[in-house]
Amino acid sequence: MNNDLIQLIMTRTSIRAFQDKPVSDETVEVLLKAAMAAPSAKNSRPWSFVVIRNRALLEKLGDSLPNAKMTATAPVAVVICGALDKALPGEAREYWIQDAAAATENFLLAVHALGLGAVWTGVHPISERIRIIKDALRLPDGIEPFCLIPFGYPAVPAAVKDKWDPSIVHQDTW
Ligand SMILES: Cc1cc2nc3c(=O)[nH]c(=O)nc-3n(C[C@H](O)[C@H](O)[C@H](O)COP(=O)(O)O)c2cc1C
Repeated sequence: MNNDLIQLIMTRTSIRAFQDKPVSDETVEVLLKAAMAAPSAKNSRPWSFVVIRNRALLEKLGDSLPNAKMTATAPVAVVICGALDKALPGEAREYWIQDAAAATENFLLAVHALGLGAVWTGVHPISERIRIIKDALRLPDGIEPFCLIPFGYPAVPAAVKDKWDPSIVHQDTW
């Protein structure tokens, strides 16, 4: 299909190696705006963001999170957090996770749209990763790290994956 947004979605891939090239504050702001444009339950927007540019901090996170080693060599990273004081009451509270995931995907697609690359590294609900990030970034109570996204200009071109599988699609009933 010849549609720019569809093409963008279909060609996004995780990027785990970055050029030694800075990402401007203006670019980071566009990415954050895209994240904040995501849908959220009752428009609660239960999220907050920590942009990390400090080299020692990036290295500390990369060294202490085996699943996110590439953070150590990224020019910048963002932690997308749940702001639990803005989460909905009752059973709907857990929607914050879906809201944070929607913001994360928007962020990743905007990264790709601007010619950068990124990888979603999982934090919530892995308690050890949550603890490491909370300590390193001095997150207050009620701010829950959801994922860590190192990003920058890709070191190598990405190989696009074809994930289309019609066998998992059902019509009307299972
Ligand atoms: C919830 C979640 C957690 C992930 N955690 C990690 C991670 O810790 N480290 C990593 O390198 N990639 C991580 N990824 C990226 C996936 O490995 C990647 O999206 C998947 O292999 C598909 O590849 P693609 O993004 O290139 O399409 C995670 C992705 C998701 C959605």
